[in-house]
Amino acid sequence: NPLIISDKDEMRKWSRIMRSQGKTIGLVPTMGYLHQGHLSLIKEAQKHSQSIVVSIYVNPGQFSPNEDLSTYPSDFLGDIEKLKSIPGGVDVVFSPHNLYDYGDNRNNCGDDQEERGPEKGGKKVVSCVVDGGMGHETWVRVERSEKGLCGKSRPVFFRGVATIVTKLFNIVEPDIAVFGKKDYQQWRIIRRMVRDLDFGIEVIGSDLVREPDGLALSSRNVHLSPAERDKALSISRSLGEAKAAAEKGQVKCRELRNSVIQAVEESGGVIDYVEIVDQESLETVEEIKRPVVLCIAAWFGKVRLIDNMEICP
Ligand code: PAJ
Repeated sequence: NPLIISDKDEMRKWSRIMRSQGKTIGLVPTMGYLHQGHLSLIKEAQKHSQSIVVSIYVNPGQFSPNEDLSTYPSDFLGDIEKLKSIPGGVDVVFSPHNLYDYGDNRNNCGDDQEERGPEKGGKKVVSCVVDGGMGHETWVRVERSEKGLCGKSRPVFFRGVATIVTKLFNIVEPDIAVFGKKDYQQWRIIRRMVRDLDFGIEVIGSDLVREPDGLALSSRNVHLSPAERDKALSISRSLGEAKAAAEKGQVKCRELRNSVIQAVEESGGVIDYVEIVDQESLETVEEIKRPVVLCIAAWFGKVRLIDNMEICP
């Protein structure tokens, strides 16, 4: 059974004990409501490190005020059961209460400003905007990579992700960390941040996991109605068709993009973006000459879904 740690000093102490015993530490950051996609990251981490820490923390810093922080799903006890079922197991579940409370009453989450989300895993989730004010003021920005794709419609998202991942790295002090390619831009941004800021951590990307019918696994899928879920299959279907067309020789990105946009709109989805970008730089490409990734974000009802497929010419 995993050890459950919620105090950050205790977490750091545990890691340092492991390190002193010569054991390497792998970190898998999550926001909980675990599914097979998350579990596949843990299996990947097991290949690279001797002890495993899974963090479960719904990070208020990466949600804009109009986004779905208060309805983000959670099931802490269910998550623990799933983690127990993994062969080889995990050593620690790190589930901090609030990583923006520094215990000096200088955070800007005073009771008057604090909205409380629903009870999550027996804990209150602080949903104040962790910005400016008295408390947290240090943010990590990965300036170029955070601009496009999801960064356009979610302006503070990657700043929040890069900052919380930095905090988790500083608390857990892992040797390796695993991120899913489901969130392709996030994975690239974390790799870039680790290189640019000399974190001594190896960042590993793990393949996107899908349902048997193609839908990319996501904690947010639970909010799709059966009809919306059915319509949302147009995403993976059209991405797959575009990938097949590209592999048969269609190199023109405009054609490939248009076919995806048309299919998803016909099914009732509202497109946020469809882009074909360089796998490394995430820069938009016109013609496929090197490895690219076809990325999409689209709304089905109130749910924003993202998906992508890597394409090699
Ligand atoms: P969350 O959405 O819980 O995802 C945690 C990790 O699981 C991420 O690395 C994500 O890419 C991966 N993941 C999610 N669905 C996947 C799937 N279908 N296949 C493969 N991997 C998948 O991403 C976050 O949380 C947060 O932004 C976080 C990095 C924890 C920072 O708060």
